[in-house]
Amino acid sequence: MSVSTVAVDASICSPLPVLGRDVTVPLVTGGTIAYAALDYAASAPALQRVWDDVAAYAPYYGSVHRGAGYLSQFSTDLFEKARRTVAEFLGCRADDQVVFTRSTTDSLNLLARVVPADCRVFVFETEHHAALLPWQDDRVTYLDAPRSPRQAVETLERALAGRDPYGPALVCVTGASNVTGELWPVRELAAAAHAHGARIVLDAAQLAPHHPVSLTDLDVDWVAFSGHKLYAPFGAGVLAGRADWLREAEPYLAGGGASRRVARRADGRVEVEWHESAARHEAGSPNVIGAYAVASACTALTEAGWDALVTREQYLIDRVRSGLAEIPQVRVLSLFGDDAPRVGVLSFVVDGWNSSHFAAALSAEYGIGVRDGLFCAHPLLRTLLGTAPQTPAECGAPSLNAIRASFGAGTPDEHVDRFVTAVRRLVTEGAKWTYRTEEGRCVPVA
Ligand SMILES: Cc1ncc(COP(=O)(O)O)c(C=O)c1O
Repeated sequence: MSVSTVAVDASICSPLPVLGRDVTVPLVTGGTIAYAALDYAASAPALQRVWDDVAAYAPYYGSVHRGAGYLSQFSTDLFEKARRTVAEFLGCRADDQVVFTRSTTDSLNLLARVVPADCRVFVFETEHHAALLPWQDDRVTYLDAPRSPRQAVETLERALAGRDPYGPALVCVTGASNVTGELWPVRELAAAAHAHGARIVLDAAQLAPHHPVSLTDLDVDWVAFSGHKLYAPFGAGVLAGRADWLREAEPYLAGGGASRRVARRADGRVEVEWHESAARHEAGSPNVIGAYAVASACTALTEAGWDALVTREQYLIDRVRSGLAEIPQVRVLSLFGDDAPRVGVLSFVVDGWNSSHFAAALSAEYGIGVRDGLFCAHPLLRTLLGTAPQTPAECGAPSLNAIRASFGAGTPDEHVDRFVTAVRRLVTEGAKWTYRTEEGRCVPVA
């Protein structure tokens, strides 16, 4: 089916208003064009609603948990309300904690700091580096890439059952791959983890912007995500979930805000009583604008309605998939098979093209922003591409890196259509411009 023949369902909602939709960029071939942002998986544009909420709050900005003044009280209230909004968005259980962090990377590093000393960690090699690397090396078991959701569950079950000693364990798994966009069987993996006395943290960096995520429904112990991928690019992220390990561990950062009472002891040392609430891991002045922006995005997505958002995104996915399927030189990467359910994240390679060259031409000649490379998931890319990736050679040489297009709630049809058309034209007609390699990247010759 070609792009133009994908049926347009009248019930498909409009894209949500996002910033940057009117931005034009220069084309290397002359003139300008409206920028097509197809790199949502890296950072999504801000929702207009989030921007408006932040702008409306900005004059009332004040210190959180510190001042006696009205605006400090107001900001503290807003910050704590944001925590409750996020808890609701994530379907938190009554005794879960919501900790505001900087990002998913920060959230998973925080969790890595609070796991009990004898806890084993199980993680698939397919994870983003943020989920792959924070754990102490001698306690991690890296699991081979599964080739189906079922194999993922079986692999995990085998690994958990065979752990020696059979002590505390944590599984860290993504909800949707940042490379293939494929959905992982989170509920089944959580059931497997719990059946084997393990806990599970869901890396929802790529899932939360595209699908509802509920700790209760999925029965996961923690969820981590980033505001900047959830249309709220103001420097906040979230770790939400079970309070016990968070409460029992030393604070992630030591400092004001995390400490309830600090006193000099008779021996001259300092004695600290740490908070037991989420504040324990939020030392320093909280990022109230970031937290409020995340809460605003949660509200906006909920109000837009997940059914409508998911239906629209699936329509865009089908449009891209069917368009690319007609270009035999394009190979879309997949772990679980072509028909596996996925979010609007899609990586591919093009026969005979260096991925950096291809991505540079999409930008310079068509005004389309995608990403090329290994997407902070090097082991997964090695598995998918079949052999160790090479450093991109001169522009035009075959590449073992990949190109990723990603989109979401703010993406208009025109962006994905322009993308498919541009891919087809580059493959059939070649690039119109000359490119050269600069520091390993392909750039248009000035
Ligand atoms: C699946 C996944 N996990 C974690 C991260 C890290 O997110 P951040 O860079 O916001 O910390 C990313 C970022 O791309 C991601 O895609």
